[in-house]
Amino acid sequence: MSSQLFEQNLQAADAQTERMKPIIRNARMRQHYHFMAEAGWINDPNGLVFYKGKYHIFYQHNPFGSFWGRMFWGHAVSDNLMHWKHLPHALAPSEHYDDHPEGGCFSGSAIVYKDRLYLVYTGTTNYGNGFVQTQCLAWSDDGVYFKKYDLNPIITAPEGYDAANFRDPKIFRHGEYFYLICGAKKGDFAQALIYRSDDIRHWEYLNVMAESKGEFGYMWECPDFYPLGDKYVLMFSPMGVKNRTSIYLVGSMNFQTGKFDYYSIGEVDSGFDYYAPQSFSDDRGRRLLIGWANAWDWMPWWKDWGPSFKEHWCGFFSLIREARLCEDNRIQFKPVEEYRNLRKESINAEMLLIRDQRYQIKAGDGIAYEMELYIDLKQTTAKKFQLFLHSDDMFESIITVDLEHSELIFDRNNSDSWSKGIAHVNLKYLERNEMKLHIYSDQSSIEVYTDDYQTIISCNVFAENTQNHNYIAACDGMVCVKYMEAWEMESVF
Ligand code: FRU
Repeated sequence: MSSQLFEQNLQAADAQTERMKPIIRNARMRQHYHFMAEAGWINDPNGLVFYKGKYHIFYQHNPFGSFWGRMFWGHAVSDNLMHWKHLPHALAPSEHYDDHPEGGCFSGSAIVYKDRLYLVYTGTTNYGNGFVQTQCLAWSDDGVYFKKYDLNPIITAPEGYDAANFRDPKIFRHGEYFYLICGAKKGDFAQALIYRSDDIRHWEYLNVMAESKGEFGYMWECPDFYPLGDKYVLMFSPMGVKNRTSIYLVGSMNFQTGKFDYYSIGEVDSGFDYYAPQSFSDDRGRRLLIGWANAWDWMPWWKDWGPSFKEHWCGFFSLIREARLCEDNRIQFKPVEEYRNLRKESINAEMLLIRDQRYQIKAGDGIAYEMELYIDLKQTTAKKFQLFLHSDDMFESIITVDLEHSELIFDRNNSDSWSKGIAHVNLKYLERNEMKLHIYSDQSSIEVYTDDYQTIISCNVFAENTQNHNYIAACDGMVCVKYMEAWEMESVF
């Protein structure tokens, strides 16, 4: 009975996506090289995995509207991380534990074991007495069609925990065992709970792996855990910590006790639009991360579903980044080298001495481009310099590098007729002779990388097609651009 409903709901989701595709094809706000669903609403990346020679992306998907709703898992595969082929939906709500209009198949992760691809996810339901979240299992042997485990759920919230806030399992293997961590809420504080298993189906509770004492909020969404260099990293998206969307902790792990001790704290991204990053390792041993380029309604800058909503789609993923541990236990997040394969025509310039008059940077069509700027800090006399991106007579996004106060500021109060807010981040490496700014601009987003890729600001801006000029200018003095190069980027859709 229930598996029939599973099939029916999957087919309905696929059919709806097919219906919407032609309507969305020419939508103006669509990205050129950031991953998107074919139609409808997308949020967290789920189940990222390299399986049988292909990269798999799953994602939180509402195929029936461009707003959050009953959650399905969308699915796409790629050989090269850049070009994605969409597959049939992988998971649909269908069972008492995951079928509810405001619930469904919530976020989770994947693991390959003995050639089989396993997905663990949170079933969210409501039997009339508040939401109930449990951890559930599904698998596939061909990487396309999935079956839910008959004995789901595999894990329920422990005594004394809030069953409405117990979600987003991340599964991984270490030594003899499988481990699973998930976000939980105890009283007013967030925790990550860790479980252990030797067969993926039966789980033993191990410990509270890490917890907030208030400084990291009341709930951690999408916790992730992975080895990096000779350390371990715990990452999560906290609820109740104002502007911080994705925190990482670097430390050491005791797998016997299930306790994680950390000694370094950082943010994966300091922009308005980065949430729920998930990591996975590929066949080359790289630790890759993908985040959802958006924010939730509890965040200070949230407005509503945004301009793309009217085009029957909403949401996309950030660029795929590779994580590397630095000597000071901070993490560098660098867009994967495959993005170089999307580079087309470029222009470059050397030793530009720019004052307060705007200098125009020609970068592709002015919207979908990549740009590298190397600033000579020794020769620069200005206290600030600014980039004006996606600019026309009415609107522009302004990025200010404040050398005096060591800050990078992304001002999108006048980026378009919808976006708002000013994001700030402290810069770390201004004492060096040179500053590199690496910018990836797409139709509806701008990502800025600096500080050796340890500092990132990602913001969505919904430019009209006339907003395609880009400039740089100094404030009170001169900025010396030692070298710059800008590439037009291939459109992958
Ligand atoms: C994070 C999140 C998860 C949840 C999912 C639901 O963005 O709230 O905690 O599983 O989205 O779509």
